[in-house]
Parts: sequence; C-alpha cells; structure tokens
Amino acid sequence: MTERATLFEVGPRDGLQNEPGLIATADKIRLVDMLGDAGLTRIEVTSFVSPAWVPQMADAAEVLAGIARRPGVSYSALTPNLKGFQRAEAAGADAVAVFGAASESFSRKNINCSIAESLERFGPVLDAARAAGVPVRGYISCVTDCPFEGHIAPAAVAQVARELLAMGCHEISLGDTIGQGTPGRVDAMLSAVLEEVPVERLAGHFHDTNGRALDNIEVALARGLRVFDAAAGGLGGCPYAPGAAGNVASEAVVARLHALGYDTGVDEGRLALAADFARGLKTSAEVS
Ligand code: HMG
Ligand code: MG
Repeated sequence: MTERATLFEVGPRDGLQNEPGLIATADKIRLVDMLGDAGLTRIEVTSFVSPAWVPQMADAAEVLAGIARRPGVSYSALTPNLKGFQRAEAAGADAVAVFGAASESFSRKNINCSIAESLERFGPVLDAARAAGVPVRGYISCVTDCPFEGHIAPAAVAQVARELLAMGCHEISLGDTIGQGTPGRVDAMLSAVLEEVPVERLAGHFHDTNGRALDNIEVALARGLRVFDAAAGGLGGCPYAPGAAGNVASEAVVARLHALGYDTGVDEGRLALAADFARGLKTSAEVS
C-alpha cells in the first residue's frame, strides 16, 4: 500500500503575512478555497496576532468568515496569546497554533518576550483550547539557524519541543525560518528532538532561501516525519526574520513526494492553478 504524507498548507498565512502591499480579503478567501479544491486538508488560513505588528493579517476574522468550508478540511490560525485564541475561536477556526522559538533573540523580535515567557503565555491558550476542544499545534522557529544568533544547538530545540508537547500541543512544527539549514544539521536537530517527541507528532517547516528545502524534507522523511508545511507558489517569509525567503513551494513538495511514491491526496493540476493565483497576488502587491 502506498504510504501517506500530508501537506500542511501555510500559504495564506506564512505566504501572505510578509507581503508589502495589502492583499484584498476576497483574494485571500479565493486562495484558501482554491487550495481546498486542490485536495489540501490542512490549511493555515490566517493569524490572530496584533494588527500593529502584522497589518497584513488584520482581516483574519473576515477571511475565516468568507471561505467555503469543505468537509474534512481543517482551517487553522496562529494565536500568540489568549486574546488571539479568543478571537480565533469566535471566528470559527478549527485548530490553532502557538509559535515559539529555539532562539532567544528571535523570540524577542517576533513575539516580544523570552522563550520562558512565551511558554507561560501559551499555557492559557492551551487551557482554553482544551476546554473548547480545539487542537493546538506548536511551532518552533529557528530550529537550525537564527538571523541574529547564527547556528542554534539541537538541544535548545529539543527542550522547547519537550515543553510544548508536555503543555498539550498535538503536533510540533519544526521551522527552519530563514532557510539556512543543511541536511546534516537538520538531521542532527531531528535526532535530538526525536529523543523527546514521537515522530508522528512532528512536522517539518522549511523555507527555501538556499534551495535546500526539498533535500531537508528528504532527511526528515528518512527520520520518519510525514507532515510537511509548504506554501503554494513558494510565497513567504517572516516580517521579523530578515533574510527569510519563501516557504518551500507546495507544488514542489507534492511533486517530490509523488515521485518518491507517497500519496498526498493533492491534485497537482489544481494545485498549480492555486500556486499561479498565489504568485499573481504577490506580483500585484509588489506593483501596488
Ligand atoms: P506586545 O506589543 O508585547 O503585546 O506584542 P501586548 O500584550 O503588550 O499588547 C499590545 C497591544 O496589542 C494591546 O493593544 C493588545 O490588546 C494588542 P492596545 O491596548 O495597545 O490597544 N494585542 C492584540 N491584538 C489583537 N490580537 C492579539 C493581540 N495581542 C495583543 N492576539 C504580540 C506581543 C505577541 C501580540 C506581538 O508581538 C505579535 O502579534 N507578534 C506576532 C508576530 C508574527 O505574527 N510573526 C509572524 C508569525 S511567526 C512565523 O512566521 C514563523 C513560523 O512560520 C515558523 C517558522 O518559519 O519558523 C510560524
Ligand atoms: Mg515560516
């Protein structure tokens, strides 16, 4: 039987959060719907973050309200704190994600607190989500490299992963935020994290700055990971991570997984249409 691998589509969130011009809410909704039509079953739609920090995600509730929800698709959102969770819950997000880091400097730049403070802040989100029956994913940024601190020790990643798991995150997504990870260092990082977290609870989140994301995905596949974050059209970047280029493109990940014999459930033709549309949004933002 063909083995399954799952795409976790982050384009509408990680892909669009960094765009210089404001993208119309209707276009974001159309992108999410096209991704659902392509067979993606886990779609990160938006972020309930501070609009002062990330203006591009200020229409989070409107986007969630406008999408045509397909049965069997989980529509999720980032929530940095309890306020974010409450907004996401009111807007009907199926799942949420807290996002921390393995680098102190990046944690401060991105969410304005230390790693320890971030974990304290996530506690009430996990408690409220548990009470509401909403699954929580935990991101860890800078799992191999930080734009401010350089290489990150695998043990630092493993420690944050252990804590997020203990708090109740159902899945930990390991983010090579600036796409500087090499296959060797990704493997060393995974080796440390796998001491703390069962492989079926891990996802790989690779940015493609140096063109190594697909190689790093193969390293993660060899370690047993089967969930990969990606953005249609290869859009992306983090406003608080200088040098972070796009996420690995969903269409490239799907093509590679299919070539390796995995079943993803994604229709490559329909995904190509969504990817073209996503790239067009980027272009219109740049010219505006
Ligand atoms: P802060 O300024 O320290 O927050 O920001 P605060 O608690 O002091 O609140 C300041 C103001 O923001 C208050 O409003 C709050 O109500 C408001 P005021 O009283 O001044 O009018 N506020 C909010 N408003 C709406 N929704 C909220 C919210 N929280 C506070 N949830 C905070 C701290 C975490 C809020 C801020 O730093 C923030 O929003 N950061 C988000 C940055 C971000 O979105 N980064 C990109 C996503 S992470 C990423 O891309 C990496 C990833 O892809 C993985 C990888 O690649 O590695 C996930
Ligand atoms: Mg990212």
